[in-house]
Amino acid sequence: MSEETRQIDEISEAFEQEFGRFADLNLDGIGVSDAEALLREVNELKIKYTGKKSAIADAKKLIGKVSPEERGAFGQLVQSVETKITSKISETESKIKGHILRAKTESERLDVTIPGRRPRAGHLHPITIVRQKIEEIFVSMGYAIEDDREIENDYYNFDALNIPEGHPARESQDTFYTTDGFALRSQTSTVQIRAMERRGAPIRILAPGRVFRRDTPDMTHTPMFHQLEGLCVDKGITMAHLKGTVTEWLQRLFGSDTRTRFRPSYFPFTEPSAEFDFSCFVCHGSGKVGDQRCRPCKGSGWIELGGSGMVHPNVLRACKIDPTIYSGFAFGFGLERMAALMYSIDDIRHMYDNDVRFLEQFR
Ligand code: DAH
Repeated sequence: MSEETRQIDEISEAFEQEFGRFADLNLDGIGVSDAEALLREVNELKIKYTGKKSAIADAKKLIGKVSPEERGAFGQLVQSVETKITSKISETESKIKGHILRAKTESERLDVTIPGRRPRAGHLHPITIVRQKIEEIFVSMGYAIEDDREIENDYYNFDALNIPEGHPARESQDTFYTTDGFALRSQTSTVQIRAMERRGAPIRILAPGRVFRRDTPDMTHTPMFHQLEGLCVDKGITMAHLKGTVTEWLQRLFGSDTRTRFRPSYFPFTEPSAEFDFSCFVCHGSGKVGDQRCRPCKGSGWIELGGSGMVHPNVLRACKIDPTIYSGFAFGFGLERMAALMYSIDDIRHMYDNDVRFLEQFR
């Protein structure tokens, strides 16, 4: 083998070695920028092996210097090595370019037929749903929604409501106290006092809100729960207005065949006082569903809801309203119980567990 032929073989070998890593190039999963970097490397090799200053370019110049007998064969050899190098390079180049093109189209593709991603809208808590339904009814009857503080002092929670110190009614409403004479309100009746102080009479308000009691949680008790308080004070208000108002909103909520009943009771801030029940919205008072005992009313046909009565003269006086001119009624009840009944929730603690599987049912 002549010196020149050996040189050509060396060029071919050097190329094979350096270009080896591109031989079975697998571009699967290679991103656009990595592929572009590979393309630049291939380009450098292209210049190195086929450019004007490449070894093969030098070798071509030797063709003329080889003896005439060998020239033909040598020329062919140079030619074939050059062709091999250029074709391998361009093959790899187009493979990478094709990959880049595909990757780009893939990432820029826009399928206008894919449905948009809908934001998952939140929804109201069952307590809020029930509260708002009742608020709407009272607003339509001319009541204002009254909001007030949850931290109260003894005066508003008890004294002004005709529950003096040492009164046994304080005991059942034991709450949470702070060190400086304040406590979390145990009933929304406090808002009666606050509202009458602010607005005087006549007044019609509905006061929803959180109340607190030192109860151990169980299926029907939680240390925090919600009440709705109603108050109407005007000239000539009687027990008939109380019964009419309570019956009206319960009929609007549960249907016009709903009946109400009032049982004599005792509350310090009302005189006379009554607890009120309404006919069961499931069995409509029969106590039976088919031949089964109706669940919400436990077969009695009636559901106990809350307390009510004619505002005690002492309460009006505490708010500087003259009981010889004005009279009024008030009522209050718990929202958790109401929501539990309406949605057949057997344990009110579910309402505060924040378990989405439970809450999502109220969408
Ligand atoms: N505050 C009472 C309670 O928490 C409920 C109540 C009874 C409110 C009679 C009233 C009422 O306004 O007149 O048990």
